[in-house]
Amino acid sequence: MSIWKTKPLSVLLDEASESEKGLKRTLSSRSLVALGVGAIIGAGLFSLTGIAAAEHAGPAVTLSFVLAAVGCAFAGLCYAEFASMIPVAGSAYTYSYATMGEFMAWIIGWDLVLEYALGAATVGVSWSRYLLELLNKYGIHLPHDFICSPWETLKLSDGTVIEGGIVNLPAIFIVSMLSLLLIRGTKESASLNNFLVVVKVAVVLVFIILGWSFIDTANYTPYIPENTGVFGEFGWSGIAAGAGTVFFAFIGFDAVSTAAQEAKNPQKGMPIGILGSLIICTLLYVFFAHVMTGLVNYKEFAGDAKPAATAFAKTGYDFLQTGLIVAILAGYTSVILVMLLGQSRVFYTMSKDGLLPPFFSSIHSKFRTPWKTNLFFLVFVSLFAGLVPVSDLGHMVSIGTLLAFVLVCIGVMVMRKRMPDAPRSFRTPLVPFVPIAGIVICLALMYSLPNESWVRLVVWMALGVAIYFVYGKKNSKLNNPEK
Ligand code: ALA
Repeated sequence: MSIWKTKPLSVLLDEASESEKGLKRTLSSRSLVALGVGAIIGAGLFSLTGIAAAEHAGPAVTLSFVLAAVGCAFAGLCYAEFASMIPVAGSAYTYSYATMGEFMAWIIGWDLVLEYALGAATVGVSWSRYLLELLNKYGIHLPHDFICSPWETLKLSDGTVIEGGIVNLPAIFIVSMLSLLLIRGTKESASLNNFLVVVKVAVVLVFIILGWSFIDTANYTPYIPENTGVFGEFGWSGIAAGAGTVFFAFIGFDAVSTAAQEAKNPQKGMPIGILGSLIICTLLYVFFAHVMTGLVNYKEFAGDAKPAATAFAKTGYDFLQTGLIVAILAGYTSVILVMLLGQSRVFYTMSKDGLLPPFFSSIHSKFRTPWKTNLFFLVFVSLFAGLVPVSDLGHMVSIGTLLAFVLVCIGVMVMRKRMPDAPRSFRTPLVPFVPIAGIVICLALMYSLPNESWVRLVVWMALGVAIYFVYGKKNSKLNNPEK
C-alpha cells in the first residue's frame, strides 16, 4: 500500500467509457470557448475590480489583470496538455491521480473545494449585492441584519453604511435554489450557456462602448498611486496584490476541462476552449477595468461591492441600469451553477475512488444526480455565503485555485518524465520553461495574498491530510483492491 500509487491511464480511460456512456460528444470548439467564458465572467469582474483598484492598484488595476492573465496562460497551457491527453471527468484531481499519485490527488481534490464551493459562495454574496441594488430601484429595502454577514461593512447605494449584520439571506437563497435545481437534474445545456454568454459579453461590451466617452482622464492621475509604505498598498507591489485579487476573475477556464468527455474532438477542442476563453476574457477585462476606473475615481470604490453599477451610473444612461443589473445577475447565476456542479463532480469522483464515504456518490433513484453531495454543499456553501465577508472568501478561492494550478504545472513535468511516449495531441510548449514560469507566477500571486489566507489554507489542507490518513488511505479502491 503506497500513498504515492498512481492510477494507470488505461484504467482512467476505461472507467470513463463505462461510467459516462450516456454522455454525448456534442460540444464543438466554439461551444467549449463559450463554456469557458460562461464560467469565467462573473463576480471577479463586476465586484472585485473595484476592491482591487481601491485597496491595491488604483487605475493600474488594468496591469493587475494583465499579470494575472499571464499566470493563467502558463497554467492554461499545462491544463490543455492534460485535458487533451486524459479527456475524462475530475479535472485536476484526475490528472494528479495519474501522475503524482493518490496522496497528491487527494490534496488537490480537497483543495478544489476552495475553488468550487467557496467560489460559489463568493459569487453568491456578489449576486446578493446586485440584487439589493435592483430591489432598491423599486423602493424595496430588506432589513439590514439579514443582508450582511457579521464581519462585513456594507455600503448601500443610498449612502447607508451597515457595520455588520447577522446573516446574508439573499446569498443563501441563490445558493440553495441552484443546489436544489442541480438535484432535480437541471443542467446547463450548451445552448442555455451560449445564450447567457451572449448576454454577459454584450453587457461588458455595452459598458465599455457607452462608458468610453464619459471617461474623465483626471481619474488616471496618478496611474500607479504611490505605495503607502505597506507591501501591497499601491505602487508595484499593489499591482501584484491587485493581481492576486482579480485573479478570481479568471477562475473557471479550468472548468472547460471538466467537459472533456462531452467534447466532439477533445484533442483539438480542449486547448482551443481553455486558451480561447482566456484570451477573450483578458481583452474584455482590461478594457472594462480601464473604463471603470476612468468613470469613477478608484478611491470611491472602497467598500463598494457593486462597483460596475456605481461606475455605469456616471454615464447617465439610467434606463439601461436595470438591464445591466439583471444581466449581471443572470451571468452570476450561471457561474454559481457551474461551480456547484463542478464541486459535486469532483466529490463524486473522489467518493467513487473510495477516498470519501459512499454518501458522496449516492445517486438519487429518480433524478439520477448525486443529490446527497448537492445537499451537503447546499449547507456548506450557504454557511460561508451567509456569514463570511466577500473579500475573505475571494482570497480563499484564489489561494486555493492558485495551489491547484501550481500542482497541475508540476504534473505536466512529471507526466513528461513518466510517460514520455503517451499520445498527447496538444503539447505544452517550451517545457520546462512554461510550467516553471506558471509555478513562479502563481506562487508570487499566492504570496501577494493576505497572511490570513495562508493561515486558512494551511489549516484547511492540514484538516484534509488528517482526513486522508484517517479515512481515505484505508478505503481507497486503488490501494485496497479487495474492498
Ligand atoms: N471567474 C468567476 C467569477 O469571476 C469565478 O465569478
